[in-house]
Amino acid sequence: MDFLKFLKTAALAAAVILPQTVFASSDGPPLPKQTWGFQGIFGQFDNAALKRGARVAVGVCMNCHSLKYIKFDSLKQIGFSEAEVIALAEGASLTKKDRMNSAMDANAAKDSFGVVPPDLSLMTKARKGYEDYTYGILNGYLTDAERKLVEQVMADDVISEKELLEVSSTLGLNAHQPEKVKEILKRILANENFNKHFPGFFFAMPQPMTDGAVTNTDGVENSLKQMSHDLTTFLAWTAEPTLMARKALGIKVMIYLVIFTIMLYAVKRRIWAKVHH
Ligand code: HEC
Repeated sequence: MDFLKFLKTAALAAAVILPQTVFASSDGPPLPKQTWGFQGIFGQFDNAALKRGARVAVGVCMNCHSLKYIKFDSLKQIGFSEAEVIALAEGASLTKKDRMNSAMDANAAKDSFGVVPPDLSLMTKARKGYEDYTYGILNGYLTDAERKLVEQVMADDVISEKELLEVSSTLGLNAHQPEKVKEILKRILANENFNKHFPGFFFAMPQPMTDGAVTNTDGVENSLKQMSHDLTTFLAWTAEPTLMARKALGIKVMIYLVIFTIMLYAVKRRIWAKVHH
């Protein structure tokens, strides 16, 4: 048995099968896949998007969450001016030297939510699905139309087969478990926080924002989708502010290796030239 060949085949099979089984194991619809411009070897952070995202983070998320690994001053790296950084910090009753800590203290948060909202600095790396997960959570709450559908379905005590199928496919539930679906619909009507993309569907975070939550200073639309995309881009930056530097170094190393290889090849040809004659 060619062991190397076996290893290669096994690795290839694992690469193909593993991601699917990992994602198939969770409830709910698949995460909405987004295009993230900073991914890939030549990907770059878009400073305009980062700045819009930072404003959403400070204006919305920091009411409850901290970004404790980032100081306001560091926001200059994504293109904010000194004056803008000071204004942003003041908006959160902090100074530019401070870390981006939420004004809500842990005890108060525990009293209102039962849990302390997790720090968001590393969130895009901390959850399965990465950036798509954070984006998915922000877009995973029920729309008005979806909530209406739930109310209609639950208006009388019987859920018809047609209603079951419709509500299950809309919410990403498993129609083969009608009792579980009914239980979930009841909890929705009891105003628990339902989210399509949170494992288990219910958690302590009320919907943090809807269309128009912040006003973009650069004229870009402030739909929920756009704000979520910008905010998530910003959270990818907070999770790895040195990403661009790392990529630039990687590319330099690759170029160096290519040149080095060509030189070695030339040397080899020279050394062996006489032998080959
Ligand atoms: C009103 C307070 C509040 C606001 C505002 C808020 N959150 Fe949360 N968030 C929470 C709480 C509480 C939790 C913990 C939920 C739980 O574990 O049950 C949470 C959890 C999360 C999680 C983790 C989910 C998980 O997998 O554990 C993410 C991601 C998140 N919030 C993102 C955001 C973003 C992004 C914003 C800003 C757009 C935001 N939150 C605004 C209260 C808030």
